Amino acid sequence: MAKHLIAVLPGDGIGPEVIAQATRLLELYRDERDLPLDLWHLDLGADRYLKDGTTYPKEIADRIAKEARAVLLGALGDPRVPGLEHAKDILFGMRFGLDLYANIRPVKALADRLVPLKERTAKDVNLVVFRENTEGIYVGMGGQFKRGTPDEIAINEDVNTRKGVERLIRAGFEHAKRHGNKTVHMADKSNAMRHAHELWYRVFFEVANEYPGIAAKHVYVDALCLYLVQDPSQFEVIVTCNLFGDIITDLGAAFQGGLGMAGSANVHASDPARVAMFEPVHGSAPPLAGKDLANPIASFLTVGMMLTHLGWPEEEARIERACTKAIIDKQCTKDVGGALGTRACGDFLISEIERSF
Ligand code: NAD
Ligand code: IPM
Ligand code: MN
Repeated sequence: MAKHLIAVLPGDGIGPEVIAQATRLLELYRDERDLPLDLWHLDLGADRYLKDGTTYPKEIADRIAKEARAVLLGALGDPRVPGLEHAKDILFGMRFGLDLYANIRPVKALADRLVPLKERTAKDVNLVVFRENTEGIYVGMGGQFKRGTPDEIAINEDVNTRKGVERLIRAGFEHAKRHGNKTVHMADKSNAMRHAHELWYRVFFEVANEYPGIAAKHVYVDALCLYLVQDPSQFEVIVTCNLFGDIITDLGAAFQGGLGMAGSANVHASDPARVAMFEPVHGSAPPLAGKDLANPIASFLTVGMMLTHLGWPEEEARIERACTKAIIDKQCTKDVGGALGTRACGDFLISEIERSF
């Protein structure tokens, strides 16, 4: 069987610590379960940028696009690079360059004690956010004029195309159909963004017509935040734009026990054969870096999503069970109520997964 080339970019801050554990998991599958995985370790991130100015070389971008099946990314962001030059080139280089238009971010609580909401338990927190990942405010169009003067102007354009909006919404409905979900919510701000989000509103109900068995519900994003905190169990699939998806999924991470518990996939949803990028939702958490404090569970769940993408969904379920056990048995890091370090939590997860084969 041809090997699946997996590019591994640990990135900055806590990225290398959590990705070291996630890499052990991929090596376990490669060496002990004979999964045809070929790991390609890439030295890209703030250290490399500060050393020689390299961000995301074209040869690497091209090889990822042509040969890789998946990318595992830790996180990017370093206080020594306040302009985020490398982070923008690498992260957006992949999301935009590979046209990974759906950022799939499950919001699922693995245990009751992780849910901070009054009278809510893990069964109430199980939804998925489909975040548009190639457009919106993230495209970087705009500029500054008369910078540093009392008359300065700063503009970021919010770009929404019919094609971009439609394919993301369709990806959300397709997911709902595959998983037997009864509703898809679309969160926008069409009452204020009369042009851009009127497009979202219109396209949402047009696409919804193709899925008569699924209830299509519109919600303004401000109200969505309220309803999510009041009762997340009313949501199954939420489709939304790039910026709102970013914000909603940090809120969602709080329901899961924090950012150390949230994994994600960046995919070209209409063609699963294309390379996809997998990353925990969290950032580089500079204050935790180098201290063996970071929670590796988000990265394990992220590898689980990658294994489903590669055709082994039962392995994602196995990884999730091990992560749940780590939480229940308190074999986890401090942020989720344990006393273990990143490495020791990784040890527990790996041995738990090994034992379950
Ligand atoms: P962050 O996600 O790094 O941290 C937010 C909070 O969550 C902090 O309290 C942190 O301690 C905690 N946290 C995050 N990951 C954790 C983990 N694995 N275990 C335990 N606790 C964890 O967000 P931030 O502080 O706003 O950003 C830091 C840097 O990361 C910035 O440069 C930002 O731009 C970047 N960032 C990158 C990505 C990415 O590469 N995809 C995502 C988010 C933020
Ligand atoms: C994320 C991050 C990024 C985003 C930042 C680092 C640009 O917050 O992946 O959630 O906003 O997409
Ligand atoms: Mn974010």
